[in-house]
Amino acid sequence: MSSENQPVSPAAPTGGRQKATGLAKGAAVPGVAKVDPILVVDGVERRFGGLTAVNVEHLEIPRGAITALIGPNGAGKTTLFNLLCGFDRPNTGTWQYDGKNLAGIPSFKVARMGQVRTFQLTKALSLLTVLENMKLGSSDQPGEKFWQSLFPAIWRKKEAEIEQKARELLTLFKLDAKEQDFAAALSGGQRKLLEMARALMSDPQLVMLDEPMAGVNPALTQSLLDHILGLKDRGMTVLFVEHDMHMVRHIADWVVVMAEGRVVAEGPPETVMEDPAVVDAYLGAHQDVDLGAVTGRIVIPAGSDADLAAARIREKIEAEAEAELEAEEEEEKK
Ligand SMILES: Nc1ncnc2c1ncn2[C@@H]1O[C@H](COP(=O)(O)OP(=O)(O)OP(=O)(O)O)[C@@H](O)[C@H]1O
Ligand SMILES: [Mg+2]
Repeated sequence: MSSENQPVSPAAPTGGRQKATGLAKGAAVPGVAKVDPILVVDGVERRFGGLTAVNVEHLEIPRGAITALIGPNGAGKTTLFNLLCGFDRPNTGTWQYDGKNLAGIPSFKVARMGQVRTFQLTKALSLLTVLENMKLGSSDQPGEKFWQSLFPAIWRKKEAEIEQKARELLTLFKLDAKEQDFAAALSGGQRKLLEMARALMSDPQLVMLDEPMAGVNPALTQSLLDHILGLKDRGMTVLFVEHDMHMVRHIADWVVVMAEGRVVAEGPPETVMEDPAVVDAYLGAHQDVDLGAVTGRIVIPAGSDADLAAARIREKIEAEAEAELEAEEEEEKK
C-alpha cells in the first residue's frame, strides 16, 4: 500500500506547506554537513556496561527544519536525546547547540538556552493542575521566592505575564477548558499536547519530541501534526523520534536513521526511506505495521522486557529531574 492512499493525508496534512530542501552541503551520507546546523554532535558515545547504546561519530541537525530520528527499538534514539539535553552524560564526545558547547551543562540550563525536549513517557506532573504544569515550564519561574520577597510588585506582574502566556498556549492547544483539571485527569494524547505546550513556555529555538504520537487518540493526531508543523512555521527547529513512517514521510524535511547506536543513513525522506539498506534494516519489518498507522501506536505489553526497561528509564529520568531541581534551588540560593 502506498502512502498516498492513506486516509490521514487528505489534501496535504502539511497544509500545503513546502518541505525545506537544500539542507545539506553534500551527498546525503551519514554525518553530512548542513548549510545552517543548529546542533552539531561529535564522537558521542554512551555505554551501559558492555552495551554501546549510542555511538554517533558526527551528526548535524539543520536549523529551521523538521528532522525525524528513526530506527528500530533499542537503536539509541532516546538515549541520544537524553545526552543532548543534559539528562544523561556520555562516556565521550562533545556537542554544540547554536555554537555553544553543551557537554556537562545540566538539563534545566539547556532548556533555558532554548533547547527543550518532551518525553517518550509523558512527564506531566499528575498532581498539579494543567495551568500549574504550564507555569513550571516558564524559564522565568526559578527564583520565584527570591524575587517575590524582594519586589512583590514586579513579581506579581511577571506572574501575570506567565499566566497569560500559559493561557494563550493552552488555548492554542485546545486545553484551555482544562486549565484547572489535574494533569492526571487528562487522556494520554492530551498529556502529550500539554507537554508540548509546556515546552513552548520557555520560547525555545530547538524542540525535541520523543515519540509525540505514541498513545495519542486518533481524534488528536491531526492536531498534533498541525502543532508540529506550526512550530516550524514559527521559526523553530524540530527534531522528533517517531516509529510512524507515514507521519515521518509527511512532515519531515530530513530523516536520520539510527541502528545499534550509530547513524546508518540520513537524507530527505523520499530518498532515505527508499534506501535498500534502510528498508532492510528497519522499514522491512515495520512497513506494514506503520504505514497508515498514524493512530495505531505500538503497545508495550505490561510486564514485558520493554515495559520494565521503560519503567527503569522513567525512574532514572525522574530521579535525575528531581536532583536537578534541587541543584537549581541550591544555585538560586547562592
Ligand atoms: N539506563 C539504562 N541502563 C541500561 N541500558 C539502557 C539504559 N537506557 C537505555 N539502555 C539500553 O540502551 C539501548 C538504547 O535504548 P534507547 O531507549 O535509547 O532506544 P530507543 O531507540 O529510544 O528505542 P525505542 O524505539 O524502543 O524507544 C537499549 O538496548 C536499552 O536497553
Ligand atoms: Mg525511545
